[in-house]
Amino acid sequence: MKIKLGEPRAGLSKCAAAVLIFAATGFVFYAYSLDYSPLFIAVLLVFYAKYIKRIENIPPLIDIYLLGALAVLTSIVTAVFLKFSGYAIPAIGFAILVTVLFENMDFSILFAFFISSLGASVEGQNFNVGVSLFTGALIASRIAFRARRRSQIIKAGLIGAIVQFFTAIALEKQFSFLYFSSTDVSLLKTCLINGILSAIVVFWVIPLFEYVFKVVTDISLLELSDFNYPLLHRLILEAPGTYYHSLVVANLSEAAAESIGANPLLARAGAYYHDIGKLLKPNYFVENLVGYKDVHKDLKPSMSKMIIMNHVTDGIELAEKYRLNRKIVDFIAQHHGRSLVYYFYQKAKELEPSVEHEEDYRYPGPKPQSREIVIVSLADAIEALSRTLDEPTPSRIEEMVRDVVKKRFLEGELDESNLTLKDLEKITQSFIRMLNALFHSRINYPKDTHS
Ligand SMILES: [Fe+2]
Ligand SMILES: [Fe+2]
Repeated sequence: MKIKLGEPRAGLSKCAAAVLIFAATGFVFYAYSLDYSPLFIAVLLVFYAKYIKRIENIPPLIDIYLLGALAVLTSIVTAVFLKFSGYAIPAIGFAILVTVLFENMDFSILFAFFISSLGASVEGQNFNVGVSLFTGALIASRIAFRARRRSQIIKAGLIGAIVQFFTAIALEKQFSFLYFSSTDVSLLKTCLINGILSAIVVFWVIPLFEYVFKVVTDISLLELSDFNYPLLHRLILEAPGTYYHSLVVANLSEAAAESIGANPLLARAGAYYHDIGKLLKPNYFVENLVGYKDVHKDLKPSMSKMIIMNHVTDGIELAEKYRLNRKIVDFIAQHHGRSLVYYFYQKAKELEPSVEHEEDYRYPGPKPQSREIVIVSLADAIEALSRTLDEPTPSRIEEMVRDVVKKRFLEGELDESNLTLKDLEKITQSFIRMLNALFHSRINYPKDTHS
């Protein structure tokens, strides 16, 4: 059984928005007898991106379409309805938005090209407008790429605007910079207001676009990783053992994600929240057991299993209540995949050997669907097991890590993520390195009799 929350609803509203924007755009193009060439350029660019350049991780077509339609509408409102010059078309803002949302420079460049050609078109095929919008958008994208602070977005808007202005001046005045006329000053004002204002609007609308496109930006991930965030703060106070466990899992996961070129920030934030469901019954989980009082002692294995397994569904509910990003909810839903609640499964088998228990003691899934979730699910199992190592020597650590990875691989838990065997080896090595560093201080070295 796959848990996919709210997707059909989100997909439907996205389609409805796309149809509405399409109708509005079509009407405006028709009513104002606008040139349709940017729309042909858009089709060519999508074809080029998908089938010729074969850009990896290109956003879904519906998302591209929605963004493209919004860009068309915004450009027309700016140039036709508000009667601003083509230089005021927010190419910089769209370039920053696309870069921050999808972290794909190839796609950002193509999108910048599209909106710039749109700008040139609504300004009556003005080549100068198109080129200056493109250079400004390009520089802004580059600066906003992997932005981790909101100030970096403003910086991208500002520098993009300056580049846009100088390109426009260079083209309009044929590179003669001897004096600036009042028209040039008003062009500078237009570029600056456009760049800065659109950057400000972008970071206002980022949460909305994250929701619609089901993505999470590095900026949001950093905010989610702040321990003052209400859910994480509750974890520290109400389930300190789980908090410490999540912290170690996060450190292991971030390094492993870095080693294979996955998103380390996403792996870290996902690890922080993966066990958030334990907040409801923290004392039933081994890492929070106080004074070695085993609360499961008097419970049937089936009851214990239910409490343990419920931390996934409870976590999803809590995440929804706190409006966590869907990408983070996926970590909660998938980190146990279809694995077995082994300890209580064994207990049930001992009590009723004739009954087939396996299916009842397996988490419902789904299996991890992304590289970052696979990493967190492996780090989760490894961290839990590492606490049981009496003498964590480097060879024992390596044996334990390789055992966990091999077992998960053979059980098919890693099948639904696009992880390669080469990636898996890099992840294994990263875990071994990190755990050795973590346990380094706990190893009893022989005493130096000379000191
Ligand atoms: Fe868990
Ligand atoms: Fe965990």
